[in-house]
Amino acid sequence: MKIGLLGHGVVGSGVAEIIDSGRSAEVKDLRVEKMLVRTRQEVTEARITTEVSEILDDPEIEVIAECMGGLEPAHTYVKTALEYGKSVVSSNKKMLAAYYSELMEIAEKNHVMLRMEAAVGGGIPWMENLMRIRRIEPIDSFRGIFNGTTNYILSAMKEEQKEFDEMLKGAQAAGYAERNPGDDIDGFDVRYKVALTCAQAFDALVDPSDIPTFGIRNIHSEDLLHAEERNRTIKLIGWAEDHGDLVMAMVMPVFVKDSDYLSRIPCNLNGIESFSRTLGKAGFVGQGAGSLPTAHAVVQDLIDVSEGRKEV
Ligand code: HSE
Repeated sequence: MKIGLLGHGVVGSGVAEIIDSGRSAEVKDLRVEKMLVRTRQEVTEARITTEVSEILDDPEIEVIAECMGGLEPAHTYVKTALEYGKSVVSSNKKMLAAYYSELMEIAEKNHVMLRMEAAVGGGIPWMENLMRIRRIEPIDSFRGIFNGTTNYILSAMKEEQKEFDEMLKGAQAAGYAERNPGDDIDGFDVRYKVALTCAQAFDALVDPSDIPTFGIRNIHSEDLLHAEERNRTIKLIGWAEDHGDLVMAMVMPVFVKDSDYLSRIPCNLNGIESFSRTLGKAGFVGQGAGSLPTAHAVVQDLIDVSEGRKEV
């Protein structure tokens, strides 16, 4: 299956690396035919282009992997691809959360797929497993640590008494942080992920701006010390509960008890869990950010598209 890759940054380059390395029969079936970059300086091989039309107008390219980030031009490119009858896999939570219903409708109308495993929880197979649970019963609620950058910062501030700014630089260097790290620090990244999870888990279209959101900008080391003295730690938590005609959701720093395993999710890892009637708690821990783990989730979706799997 020939793929048009939009974006060759942290995630996009990881996608190309995994596909080019072809470590399994499934991956060998995929081929990155063309890659879109922003500037001519980034054109370092024949399949790289700055012209999106070379990708969208190529009838041999059946699927688009969008890893550009940001609202525009990603939204227009994805919309056009779906309208042209190409399936799309995207890691772009901000764009997907903003245009979820519009893009899903276009995908349905054109009988193509729009998949987004990498947009929430990075490499963790979260979205797929929510669908598996829903084959049996509704999901009542979910909660967890959805942002690697802030978990990395809070963990280091607590364990190593490091300063906020120093750790933010570390998260940027490791490729966890957004281009605008304010999205991480102020909780907006988690807000997009909570909105997308509400859609996947509850079929609820939640406007991200309706989710009360507080970040970690004002957390200081003395707050972490204060929490520690009370057998707690501070984590940035995304949470939502389905009440049928009402969905409650929020993003905020929470005092998590030391007995709660979320308090021990270290470094840049994410720890997220769903709750449903017969399964109870289903928890997932793993790499929620970073080039190859996030790219892994994109490639999983590409394999699903290639195998024609609409849902699980
Ligand atoms: N900036 C995000 C994070 C990247 O730190 O979790 C993954 O969505």
